[in-house]
Amino acid sequence: MIRSVLELGFVHRFEPGNRSDLTLLILHGTGSNEESLIPLGKALAPGAAVLSPRGKVLENGMPRFFRRLSEGVFDIEDLKFRSKELADFVKNASVKYGFDIDSVVVVGYSNGANIAASMLLLGSLLPTAAILFRPMVPLIPDELPNLHKMLVFISAGISDQIVSREDVEKLARLLRDARAEVTLNWENTTHALTEQEVKKATSWLLQNFRS
Ligand code: MLT
Repeated sequence: MIRSVLELGFVHRFEPGNRSDLTLLILHGTGSNEESLIPLGKALAPGAAVLSPRGKVLENGMPRFFRRLSEGVFDIEDLKFRSKELADFVKNASVKYGFDIDSVVVVGYSNGANIAASMLLLGSLLPTAAILFRPMVPLIPDELPNLHKMLVFISAGISDQIVSREDVEKLARLLRDARAEVTLNWENTTHALTEQEVKKATSWLLQNFRS
């Protein structure tokens, strides 16, 4: 059984796959850890390698990827620092574990989707694709990066109690302005993930990455 390790500055898990075109970078939500979303990764792309780090910021004992001042109000300096730190971790992990950095597809939920969106908007990590479940606008960059050819699947909840519809639309607009190809999926649900949207994301991934 594969265990978590503390190496390259993050507690993380790496599970090798049997296809070289796809490595999922899995980023969990507040209060979860590197193990929580591994089943989601396996459902999304069976056979893909999975890299799953644990967020290093603790909020009342709950792991997160960056500090916040209150719900939805982020510590932007910390977010910028953590985005670079996480992007560097992924680059170092690609050397250590021998996966192609161009094969990375980032999959984030909630707080994990927010740091993923932050890495994209800051241009600190340019994965080939991103699947963002319940993201919001994490920050507005001084300058938009060039995300030409990047594929982004955003899945949002119509009755999300944390993220507003306007915020999701604003994020989609920002990413499109940066030239990413954004698919925006609305689910008739709250902040919690549904099986149905995981199936939609799986089909989207399959359409774009055939092993
Ligand atoms: C965040 O802090 O990233 C968002 O509010 C989502 C959450 O973790 O609750």
